[in-house]
Amino acid sequence: MTCESFPTEAELAAALGRRIIDAVRQRPRLVLGLPTGRTPLALYQELIRITGDERVDWSGVRTFNLDEFVHLGPGDRGSYRTFMEERFFKHLNIPPANIGFLDGRAPDLDAECERYERAVTAAGGIDLMMLGIGVNGHIGFNEPSESLVARTHRVTLDEPTRAANALWFDGDVQRVPREALTMGMGTILQAREIVLIASGEAKGEAVTALLRGGVTTRFPASFLQLHPRVQVMLDDLVAGQLP
Ligand code: GLP
Repeated sequence: MTCESFPTEAELAAALGRRIIDAVRQRPRLVLGLPTGRTPLALYQELIRITGDERVDWSGVRTFNLDEFVHLGPGDRGSYRTFMEERFFKHLNIPPANIGFLDGRAPDLDAECERYERAVTAAGGIDLMMLGIGVNGHIGFNEPSESLVARTHRVTLDEPTRAANALWFDGDVQRVPREALTMGMGTILQAREIVLIASGEAKGEAVTALLRGGVTTRFPASFLQLHPRVQVMLDDLVAGQLP
């Protein structure tokens, strides 16, 4: 795992944005794994800005988002799909058919998880997986637990995770769904390359555990230590807290 820090979140986003744009240019059929959350917002804005300035063509790119709430899907307020449409997809020319997403309103959620695994495989796997990290060490919605499920699956969300997500539901934690669908750690670890981004004071402890702690299901992000190509990108608010 390599680690790089940047003075500000904006500089981190500029560096990673440039790297992703270069990858899209070099490999027009790039398969990207994408996170939601506050952390990637600056990156998405940067990618949209560069795309406008330099007329970047995303028409061959495929994407797979990490997770979605159960009972929410396209068009629903609060769904991760709507988050991504508003903040990223609608600003680029990725064909809708190339956008891979879990549908939390699918009638059979187990079948939906299996469909997603097959779709990732059919796309040839994920080339570059971008990740955020939860303060409890979750990745996607792989919550700390006695055991982890390797493949895409349905999960019950921890209360701190629901509280952190209230932000996307007008601050009302009661409206945050209790369950979600998420790629499993196995699905994530199959990506050829992984970039985890963390910014802001709240992430200091989690990133310390990620970089220095043991591999444990009690801290799912620690499994990233087993992958040969993981880069951790931090802003100084996080980096300044590392021992
Ligand atoms: C959410 C998402 C994760 C995300 C994490 C951190 O619950 N399911 O994919 O990485 O929590 O979110 P944030 O970037 O808002 O801190």
